[in-house]
Amino acid sequence: MTWFDAAGTDELQPGQMKRLEVAGKQLLLCNAEGEYFCVDEMCSHEDYSLWFGCIKGKSIKCSLHGSYFDLASGQPTNEPADCPLHTYPVKVEDGRVWVASEASG
Ligand code: FES
Repeated sequence: MTWFDAAGTDELQPGQMKRLEVAGKQLLLCNAEGEYFCVDEMCSHEDYSLWFGCIKGKSIKCSLHGSYFDLASGQPTNEPADCPLHTYPVKVEDGRVWVASEASG
């Protein structure tokens, strides 16, 4: 598994996110209640960036049609989205947040 240096540990406050390009994929690094998650940037419902949405608890909300996705599993928790987002492993090491290039879910 290849790890990419995504951010400093003090770069994102809870509720903030950062767009990443990792191995040609557009991803979002999210700080949800102090825990880091990484998911696809694009909503699984239509081609719309979740970066325009917001983090609520441990979920991210798409601002186009209002679906929420669980950041840990990528699963949508309400309609209209019915496909999960890919999720990517994240680790904190040496004062940095690292993201793996291969989806875990
Ligand atoms: S584009 Fe995200 S819910 Fe429709």
